Amino acid sequence: MTEESAQRKGISRRGLFGAAGAAVATGVAGYAAHSVLAGEESQAADTTGPVEFHGEHQAGIITPVQDRLHFAAFDVTTTKRAELVSLLKEWSAAAALLTAGRDIGQYGAVNGPGEAPPEDTGEAVGLPPARLTLTIGFGPSLFDKRFGLASKRPQALVDLPHFIADDLDPNRSGGDIAVQACSDDPQVAVHAIRNLARIGFGRVAVRYSQLGFGRTASTSRAQTTPRNLFGFKDGTNNLKLEDTAKLEQQLWVQPDDGPDWMVGGSYLVSRRIRMNIEIWDRTSLGEQESIIGRGKGTGAPLGKADEFDAIDFEAKNSDGDLKVAKEAHIRLAHPSFNNGAELLRRGYNFVDGSDGLGRLDAGLFFLAYQRDPRKQFIPVQNQLARSDVLNEYIVHVGSGIFACPGGVTAGSYWGEKLFA
Ligand code: HEM
Repeated sequence: MTEESAQRKGISRRGLFGAAGAAVATGVAGYAAHSVLAGEESQAADTTGPVEFHGEHQAGIITPVQDRLHFAAFDVTTTKRAELVSLLKEWSAAAALLTAGRDIGQYGAVNGPGEAPPEDTGEAVGLPPARLTLTIGFGPSLFDKRFGLASKRPQALVDLPHFIADDLDPNRSGGDIAVQACSDDPQVAVHAIRNLARIGFGRVAVRYSQLGFGRTASTSRAQTTPRNLFGFKDGTNNLKLEDTAKLEQQLWVQPDDGPDWMVGGSYLVSRRIRMNIEIWDRTSLGEQESIIGRGKGTGAPLGKADEFDAIDFEAKNSDGDLKVAKEAHIRLAHPSFNNGAELLRRGYNFVDGSDGLGRLDAGLFFLAYQRDPRKQFIPVQNQLARSDVLNEYIVHVGSGIFACPGGVTAGSYWGEKLFA
C-alpha cells in the first residue's frame, strides 16, 4: 500500500490537528494517515491535543507537566554503532508520529496484511494525542568503549556519588538510554514506550520502567500546584517555563558549557524514592508541617499566609524558635543555602502495589532537569541526605543520570549531533 492509499483509507487511531500532522511527516518513510473525526477537533483542548515534537529544546522538559508518566531505561544490546544509529532514527520517526497521535508504521494498527503482526500495537486507537511528550537521555554507560563515544562524554555527565542512606537497587538504576513518556492519558504513555521497546527488539532491552501518576510538580504558573503522597503541595518553588532568563542559567546547557551536541539540552537525574507512608500517616500534622517547612493546607511557608509568599528564614516564634526549622526540607533545598542552585522538578507519584509486608510500595519518582548536576542535584542532595528530617520517612531505592540533548529539528533524529 502506498502512503497515499494509506491516507485514503484513513487508518488513523484518532482525530487529528492539521499543523501537527504536517510537522511530523518530514523524515518519515511511511506512516499511517489520519482522518479528522467529526467534533473531535473542537475537543482538542489542553489535555487532549498534541505537543510539537520538533523544536529547539526537547519537549517534555518545560512542557506544562502532564498527569501521567511511563519512564523506561534501556540497555543497548547490539554492539554495532550503525545499528544503534538506525534505531535512533526509527525511534525519532515513531516519536514524531506518536506525539501527534498517529499510529506508527506504514499500515498502523489494523490495516496491515493479515499474516504479519501489526506495526502498531493498537491500544491507543481512538485515543487523542493527550499531550504526549517523549524525551530521550543518554546515560554514562553509553559512553564506554562499545560505540566509540568515550571522547564525547560530557564532563557534567558524572557518575552520581553514593549519598548517605542510599539503598539503590541496581536493577532499578542506571541505563544506557532513558525515554521519559509523559501524557495526560496513561494508556497513551504506555503505548508509546511499548512501541519504542518493540521497535528496539534485538538492539535494546528494557532495563527497568516506572509508571507514575499525579504529577508532583508544576512547570508553569498557569498550572495549580499538585500534591505528593505525603499530602503536601509540591512544585511551589519550582523553575517555571515563564522564568525564561533563569532557564538559561539553570536549565539549558549553554554553548560555553560544551560539548556541542548538548547545547540546548539538559541533564536529567531520576531517583525512585520510596515513601514510608504508613509511618508518615502516624505523624502529627504539626510535625509533618515542620519537617517540610510549609503549611499542609495552604502550602504557604510557615509563618506566611499564601502559597507563593516568600519564605522568611529568619522569622521566629514567640518562644524564639525558627518558624522554618533549621532542618526543614525547604530550607535545606532552597537556592539561598545551595549557592543559588535550582532544579526543574517534574516527578510523579507511584504506587506499585504492596511489598508483601502489608505496606504500600509507594513513593515519588523524582525527575529533575538542570544545566550541571555537579553544581545542582549533587550538592543539594548531599545536604538533604545529611540533614533532612524527611529521611526518616523516605529512602532512595533507584537512581539514574542522563544527558538529554537539545531538540530534534525536522529531518534530523535524536542524538544526531552525538553521532556526527
Ligand atoms: C520523597 C521525597 C521528597 C518529598 C516528599 C519532597 C517534598 C517537597 C515539598 C512538599 C516541597 C515544598 C513545595 C515546593 O516548593 O515544591 C519541596 C520543595 C523542594 N524540594 Fe523536595 N521533596 C522530596 C525530595 C526532594 C529531592 C530528592 C530534592 C533534590 C535533591 C528536592 C528538592 C526540592 C527543592 C529544590 C524544593 C524547593 C525549595 C525552595 O526553593 O523553596 N526534593 N519538596
